[in-house]
Amino acid sequence: MTEGPTSMPQGPVLSAEAFQALRDLIRNACGIVVPDNKETSLEGKLGEHVLRLGLPGFREYVDLLERESYAGEVWQELFHRVSTGETYFFRNEAQNRVFAEHLLPTVIRRQQGRMFKRIKVWSAACATGEEAYTLAIQLHQALGRQAGEWIPMVTGTDIDRTAIQVAERGEYGGRSLQQVPPRMLKKYFEPAGDRYLVTETLRRMVFFKPVNFADEEEMATQINMDVIFCRNVLIYFDGEFRKRVVDRLYNSLKPGGYLVIGHSESLRGVHDGFASIPFPGTHVYQRPEE
Ligand SMILES: C[S@@+](CC[C@H](N)C(=O)[O-])C[C@H]1O[C@@H](n2cnc3c(N)ncnc32)[C@H](O)[C@@H]1O
Repeated sequence: MTEGPTSMPQGPVLSAEAFQALRDLIRNACGIVVPDNKETSLEGKLGEHVLRLGLPGFREYVDLLERESYAGEVWQELFHRVSTGETYFFRNEAQNRVFAEHLLPTVIRRQQGRMFKRIKVWSAACATGEEAYTLAIQLHQALGRQAGEWIPMVTGTDIDRTAIQVAERGEYGGRSLQQVPPRMLKKYFEPAGDRYLVTETLRRMVFFKPVNFADEEEMATQINMDVIFCRNVLIYFDGEFRKRVVDRLYNSLKPGGYLVIGHSESLRGVHDGFASIPFPGTHVYQRPEE
């Protein structure tokens, strides 16, 4: 007879009190709001980590988090487990089209004739990097034969250090690549077994860095951006934190620079400094020119 599931190690139980304490800690650390009904889900996501740390239960885990720095392993593992990293190349066709056909041509036109032609694009909350490399592909396409005269810089940042490591490796497969047009796959990727590696052309354009939106010092280093993509992350935050992040993104943009958020997200009631520009199938926010 084979042994039944009773031999599985039992995870620690998350009490209502520890759940509340954890939620407060998580919200303070990174703005993510864990909804009221997600007690079991949080217990599942973190229980195995509590066991691996050799702690008797969640109360001790909370105590440990209170003592540890956000940059340390304990918090990093938590960020990895509680964040949702769903992403893929060429996500949202309407937004990709607007970036390629309207935003990039405008940004390029503004700088024609300058001695140093630099374009800065930020994929804020880039998860495993697909969005940042997509923006780099589109930027490289838009510059065409002039690419050598430009300094194109795409920065990808995310709170999840494990996701940033995947992004730096630049190796993708399966669902991630499903929306990549075949000629882009041929031009910007090299086969690696049953997966694909981004080419050197893209690697030279893209730089990744772990950044938590709650870290004011780090956020203040992201400046003079022509375009920021910050998609599918503001929804996880409460109103106050969302305002703080969007305010920071506004400051990171050049006057006249553009902000693209998730297609189902809105800045209504969040920030009134941006102009909302309608495009077919989507809209984009612009920091007004000075
Ligand atoms: C759903 S993914 C979005 C990926 C990509 N922007 C897209 O739309 O395809 C959300 C990402 O936000 C990141 N995130 C959550 N809270 C964050 C914070 N406080 N600072 C930076 N990144 C955060 C998560 O780690 C996750 O990778």
